[in-house]
Amino acid sequence: MTPSQQKNTKRSIVVASNRLPFTYQRTSEGLERRPSVGGLVAALDPVLRKRGGTWVGWPGIEMDADEILPSADEGYSVSPVLLSEAEIQRFYHGFSNRTLWPLMHSMPARAKFESREWEVFKRVNNRFGETLAAESADAGLVWVHDYQLMLAPARVRQELPNTRLAFFLHIPFPPYDIFRLLPWDREILVALLTCDLIGFHVRSYAHNFLDCVQRILGARVRRDEMVVEYGDRTTRVGAFPLGIEYGTFESLALAASRQPETQKETVVLGVDRLDYTKGIPERIHAFERLLERYPEHHENVALLQVAVPSRSQVSEYRELKREIDEQVGRVNGRFATASWSPIRYLYRSITPKRLAALYRDAHVALITPIRDGMNLVAKEFVACQVGDPGVLILSRLAGAADTMREALLVNPYDIEGSADALHRALTMEEEERRSRMTALRRRERRDDVDSWVASFTKAATAARASMVPFTDEDFTGWLGDYMKGYRLALFLDYDGTLTPLREHPSKATLTRSMRATLEALADRPDTDVAIVSGRALDDVRSMVKYRELTYAGNHGLEIEGPDFPGFVHEDLIHYRERSEELLRDLEKIAVDGAWTEAKGPTLTYHYRAVPEKRRSAFIREAHQIISRAGYQPRDAQCAVEARPPIGWDKGRAVLHILRQRYGPSWSEEVRVIYVGDDQTDEDAFRFLAGLSQTFRVGSANTPTAASRRLADVNGVRSLLEWLARRSGSN
Ligand code: UDP
Ligand code: G6P
Repeated sequence: MTPSQQKNTKRSIVVASNRLPFTYQRTSEGLERRPSVGGLVAALDPVLRKRGGTWVGWPGIEMDADEILPSADEGYSVSPVLLSEAEIQRFYHGFSNRTLWPLMHSMPARAKFESREWEVFKRVNNRFGETLAAESADAGLVWVHDYQLMLAPARVRQELPNTRLAFFLHIPFPPYDIFRLLPWDREILVALLTCDLIGFHVRSYAHNFLDCVQRILGARVRRDEMVVEYGDRTTRVGAFPLGIEYGTFESLALAASRQPETQKETVVLGVDRLDYTKGIPERIHAFERLLERYPEHHENVALLQVAVPSRSQVSEYRELKREIDEQVGRVNGRFATASWSPIRYLYRSITPKRLAALYRDAHVALITPIRDGMNLVAKEFVACQVGDPGVLILSRLAGAADTMREALLVNPYDIEGSADALHRALTMEEEERRSRMTALRRRERRDDVDSWVASFTKAATAARASMVPFTDEDFTGWLGDYMKGYRLALFLDYDGTLTPLREHPSKATLTRSMRATLEALADRPDTDVAIVSGRALDDVRSMVKYRELTYAGNHGLEIEGPDFPGFVHEDLIHYRERSEELLRDLEKIAVDGAWTEAKGPTLTYHYRAVPEKRRSAFIREAHQIISRAGYQPRDAQCAVEARPPIGWDKGRAVLHILRQRYGPSWSEEVRVIYVGDDQTDEDAFRFLAGLSQTFRVGSANTPTAASRRLADVNGVRSLLEWLARRSGSN
């Protein structure tokens, strides 16, 4: 079945997750379709069943498009994204589950960092993004889920610049000090910030994320409102604790028949995917301590551990399986009697009906992950407590512990404490059990999955957060310490930085207030201002019209300024004649609004006025003509620059000015700030990285080496005004 056949008429919401609600497996009978296991599927499936919509995801094995089996009447459309075997290895087992999963769970020692896997992760995310965009042209909300798809929003945003786009992370977001271990931390944060809303289970994850975008990207964070401003875009961030389908679990529990496992002893229940984050060995250890310290539980209590097979192609998971097998064998060997085995271990997944019966009849749920985004099992247990109330023991390291305060909270690493909690749970009076369980149940009934979706989608489709003008605190926070007591060398690009881009460069004049700010800065005895432009030197000087500044024209091939020996790059003489020839050739494609600007040694081919659909042909041809003439073509804002192939650019020009003016130890003499909006400014950003504070102006879509972003020329003016007003150097 093709995606279009599966299309549903109700297209208001399109979700994407790596895992679809079903997973295919090859068996001797052919392809078999089984329900997927995990918190994400448990959350999204009921949502889509109720609301309809489209679910974009991977069917779980390598398969051909024509193998996809007909829909099992999910009540929503499914749009499969197919992965090759190599992609499954590198994207899914590799980068998703060997890199991100352990890192995001604050277990960096388990994380592997492989650039080949990262490349495939990018490629697969791109494909998810494309499929999503193709499904979402008329969607009210595009909602991307979980760590495997953290780059996909960026691709959707490219295709659908105005669509409502949101992301929910189903696992923890780690603190800054952990997240920054990832060599590709910036790329992931930038991609997430293409969303209108990013949701986490609990506030501490949201705050960790805000710390990261602030410290790693230099984004502006408005903490009170939980809004991030990055370049020209705002993103809301929030905590939306996931709930369960409470009513469904409760009904299952009311209807299910008793299971043999719970008929004899008092049951302590553990239910998890077999995952090292779930703390299963620690839990068995705590249970062993209980049996050592409280012999009265012998022959009366059993630990029933359900471990659902998961990610068994990842070696850590296989090792964990071996470890648990051995541990169960050892504890059973040590304590078992002819009629009693202390641990019953089921290594398989079980049906919801059976699960509900186990939840209902367990006396204690022992849910002790060493790290867990939320943990839905804890909530499902509570919903199924329809009879004599049991006790929930919950790790305080699970997101669920943030709200489920009436559980007995334990630190899973504290084996003695966990054993004590178990004993306490097993001997707790009915009154206390009932009080705790009633409160837990009331909250989970109210904050169920429907209320989660309602609050998330409401926030995702609310009016976008607007940008707020910069305040002195912003600039003081960013630059105050850096500048303190130092002279300032300020480098400013012209077009797109000091003035908005216009259809013709001659129209890009300075506003009165920008000019006044520049002059105020230039008049300060502790500030040197240089304008670094792609325009010819005379041209940029005539636009700014202020003598006291240094001007670097033609991307720094020509420099002039007060107290500055005039500079023209020595190799330029070879290019005077050639540039005339090139001008003649480029003039041939100066049609349909395109025109050529001769700037002495360099030229620029402008295509801003060319109709959109004709542009790519013109650009291609301009590149060819420029290369044929022995020049380097460089893309600029609606223009292609022809630059002589000499190793010189804005970065080298800035360095030249700094050395000339302040000597070889300039970095100890002055503080440097560079502001630019263009690809050609990236040369300066890279050169000055670590040696300066750099600002890229404009859209957050373009990657940058700058340390921070400013949305537009107004942002630049605010920065310059603050610099002009700042208290002076000594
Ligand atoms: N689950 C299941 N079959 C099983 C055992 C568990 O479908 O045999 C479900 C369980 O009901 C819960 C989910 O798997 O909804 C586990 O979610 P949780 O948030 O606890 O952990 P995750 O697996 O997402 O890390
Ligand atoms: C967790 C993750 C989900 C994932 C699930 C099962 O709940 O947050 O994204 O689907 O585990 O893992 P799997 O690797 O089988 O998809």
